[in-house]
Amino acid sequence: MKSIRFIKIAIIAALFIQSVHVNAQLLVETPEHKEKRMQWWTEARFGMFIHWGLYAMPARHEWVKKIERMTNEEYQKYFDLFNPDLYNPREWAIMAKNAGMKYAVITTKHHEGFCLFDSKYTDYKTTNTVYGKDLIKEWVQAFRDEGLGVGFYYSLIDWHHPDYTIDSRHPQSAETDEEYKKLNKNRDMGKYRKYLKNQVRELLTNYGKIDIIWLDYSFPGEFGKSRDDWGSVELIKMVRELQPEIIINDRADLKDYAGGWDFTTPEQYIVPEWPIFEGKKIPWETCQTFSGSWGYYRDEYTWKDNKQLLVLLIESVSKGGNLLLNVGPTGRGTIDYRAENALNAMGEWMKYNSSSIYGCTQAPESFSAPDNSLLTYNPKTNRLYIHLLDYPLQNFTLKGYKGKVKYAQFLHDASEIKISAPSSYWSKKQLSENDINLSLPVNKPPVEIPVIELILND
Ligand code: GLC
Repeated sequence: MKSIRFIKIAIIAALFIQSVHVNAQLLVETPEHKEKRMQWWTEARFGMFIHWGLYAMPARHEWVKKIERMTNEEYQKYFDLFNPDLYNPREWAIMAKNAGMKYAVITTKHHEGFCLFDSKYTDYKTTNTVYGKDLIKEWVQAFRDEGLGVGFYYSLIDWHHPDYTIDSRHPQSAETDEEYKKLNKNRDMGKYRKYLKNQVRELLTNYGKIDIIWLDYSFPGEFGKSRDDWGSVELIKMVRELQPEIIINDRADLKDYAGGWDFTTPEQYIVPEWPIFEGKKIPWETCQTFSGSWGYYRDEYTWKDNKQLLVLLIESVSKGGNLLLNVGPTGRGTIDYRAENALNAMGEWMKYNSSSIYGCTQAPESFSAPDNSLLTYNPKTNRLYIHLLDYPLQNFTLKGYKGKVKYAQFLHDASEIKISAPSSYWSKKQLSENDINLSLPVNKPPVEIPVIELILND
């Protein structure tokens, strides 16, 4: 009797464990396969984020509809007037490429609900505006032609769809349970769930191979939304089926599902170290703006300077991550002059220094970063890069590097940097037996952030 009960319990437990296991896997692949699938992205390191939508017209934040609690009717004027007559995605693609970016991710639909692509499931789309064309189609073509990876951002949140239930992030958000019940009486999230799945299917079917999907975002908790609201499990299953090579961000609230996401997305935040999940270093990409908001914001003046932008890129790579740097095109379809200038400056630096970025990652632990510098490392070429954020005066000590370095040069002009004992009494005293000294020229080279390339001993 007892043993029968035991067998029963064992069977139920086994079934349970199996179902949890099956549930928790949306993609079966080995860690090696995953690494290979993501290799192009990991090596690329630098991409362009593009936030574009009707909000470019009010030009005061992509959340303007929420911030000013506008209704659909009040927001309609932007739809009626939308006509980006200067839109030329080829120019954007060339700008991205010249800046050194290797891929781009564009908002196909942001929280406002307006679709930049032609969708069967809505009238709220560019093809119904004065402009009349599918912006995404032209965009994909142009970016592909320039050899860039293409990614689609798709907002899970939707402030226009009549069935999307009003929540704390919605322009018509409320305070109490009662109020929400009243507001959502005639809204059916099930219908919206279908809508979003249909649209993601369109995006991943009608535009050829798509390299990245960037879903945004979940906010579990009171008056929030999470995976069951989006139908995330079914959604990601479909995404994987339609585009088996695709790379997926982590905002559909499926952190505990293998294959539910591929990389994590610290936003406007510099991670203190390589992010860890379940004890392992994970792929990551920080997304950052030039000036604070994502959409075009005419009167925003908090623009980062060129050095800060380069540091963002270098620091990300030094911790094993990517940078997705955002532009918010204007209502006419052009890139703001401030963004254009910044991209040009980054491109100037990348032209001479990109070997310290592409294919690079965190330096091996046996190398410590000298003061005011950031290290990156290319494991294939066994070269170490020292980025000098603050140009030192002549004698530059590399602590613990003795016996590890074959040759040293500046990256931008391949000019040798002599490894030699310092001549002055005081700096000689500072050097211990495990250290080496580089003799740098007095003048800072004409490069925003000079890079020393060390060819290491095998
Ligand atoms: C946030 C914001 C959004 C932006 C995104 C980019 O989730 O809601 O406006 O698109 O971050 O990461």
